[in-house]
Amino acid sequence: MAWRIKKAWLLTLIICLIPLLWLFIDVALNNLGSNPIQALHIRLGDWSLRFLCLTLAITPIQTIMRWRGMADYRQLFGMYAFFYATLHLLVYLLVDHNLEWSLIGTDIIESPYIWFGLLAYIIVFLLGITSSKLAKKWLGKTWKKLHRFIYIAAGAAVIHYFWQLKGNLAEPLLYVITLFLLLGFRMLIWATNLKLNKMMLPKGRK
Ligand code: HEM
Repeated sequence: MAWRIKKAWLLTLIICLIPLLWLFIDVALNNLGSNPIQALHIRLGDWSLRFLCLTLAITPIQTIMRWRGMADYRQLFGMYAFFYATLHLLVYLLVDHNLEWSLIGTDIIESPYIWFGLLAYIIVFLLGITSSKLAKKWLGKTWKKLHRFIYIAAGAAVIHYFWQLKGNLAEPLLYVITLFLLLGFRMLIWATNLKLNKMMLPKGRK
């Protein structure tokens, strides 16, 4: 049974690399359209946001299914959000701007949507480097508080997405709705737990 669970996790780990493989194939076949750098950028940013949403979806799924065995998947999807965001940032720095720091500095100052991208990235980076079991043990209660920042990262990423948008609103709207539903679910659980805790307190201690 344990091996079956490990196999499913390994399979998921490999499946999550398909978007990257697909991108490599499109680069090799010159299949990225008239603006390949922009296409590269967009595809990596989109996948980072998708993995961020998947990470957020794990807790509601666990609550609905009453099964606590998906924490490893939450960590895996979170690491992939970090991985694709890092590639997205590297394309911006290396391919788009050739590491010309004065150009990068000016672009960052002039483009507020990049500030939100950077905020999302800093959070995803901090969560990525503290996602191991060792870091969890070491940080104790702070770990949970720190990892709640994932909602701020997702919110900042969606603002980053909306702000740079040139046309179609349908896809970013889908992310906003998903995020609201996931956050709404979390708040509902939190409010229910608070109510239950209050009901269980001895009368004199309310
Ligand atoms: C967790 C962090 C981040 C996420 C999830 C993210 C996600 C996204 C998404 C979804 C898009 C829009 C793609 C589309 O139009 O379909 C985008 C665009 C973009 N992002 Fe990010 N991003 C992040 C961080 C950053 C950072 C740190 C930078 C640069 C410093 C950056 C630079 C850009 C640029 C320049 C675009 C516009 C691409 C274009 O249309 O030319 N992003 N990002």
